[in-house]
Amino acid sequence: MTPIGPSDPVEITAAETYALRQRVLRNNQAAAHLQWDGDNDPGTFHLGIRDGSGSIVAVSTWLSGPSATQIRGMATDPALIGGGLGSRLLTAGIERCRSSGSTVVWANARVTAISFYERAGFTVVGAEFETPDTGLPHKVVRLTLGRDVDRFPSVAPGTL
Ligand SMILES: CC(C)(COP(=O)(O)OP(=O)(O)OC[C@H]1O[C@@H](n2cnc3c(N)ncnc32)[C@H](O)[C@@H]1OP(=O)(O)O)[C@@H](O)C(=O)NCCC(=O)NCCS
Repeated sequence: MTPIGPSDPVEITAAETYALRQRVLRNNQAAAHLQWDGDNDPGTFHLGIRDGSGSIVAVSTWLSGPSATQIRGMATDPALIGGGLGSRLLTAGIERCRSSGSTVVWANARVTAISFYERAGFTVVGAEFETPDTGLPHKVVRLTLGRDVDRFPSVAPGTL
């Protein structure tokens, strides 16, 4: 019988992100604070991927403001890292931001994960810093969501 693979990215609740947040992002610390500011704000959504038995194997949180959206808590089950799940979440979230009118998507990215964001078109902005919750080096990464008109600008007369 063919095994059932991971699901498409689906919307999940904040609480459904906690197990992977704890395991992957908080080093499995029992006392880790897993409910984060903004988790239940009206503009926030959480995307996840389930495996064939329904367990959540990748998570991400998207905090949408009026024009910019912050990604938090990107985490893939360690057994599945490098298998494309993170990229699928990133693509799905970006598409949702694009259709809801966000113009910028950004994240405080662990330095170790910057290549993951760069592959999706993000660029690094500014200097390295440590986040208090992790003590790990981070940099801001940012993706501008241009509308079609921005991606294909008209050429001003006389510039060719
Ligand atoms: C970053 C992360 C969410 C990416 O998810 P993923 O499912 O592994 O993503 P993909 O398989 O789509 O992409 C893997 C790419 O991410 C990059 N990457 C970043 N960190 C990585 C890691 N720890 N292990 C493997 N690849 C990593 C690599 O460039 C890799 O590219 P490659 O396939 O050319 O080698 C996942 O690696 C993870 O949970 N890492 C630990 C927690 C973390 O750093 N979260 C991000 C906080 S900002």
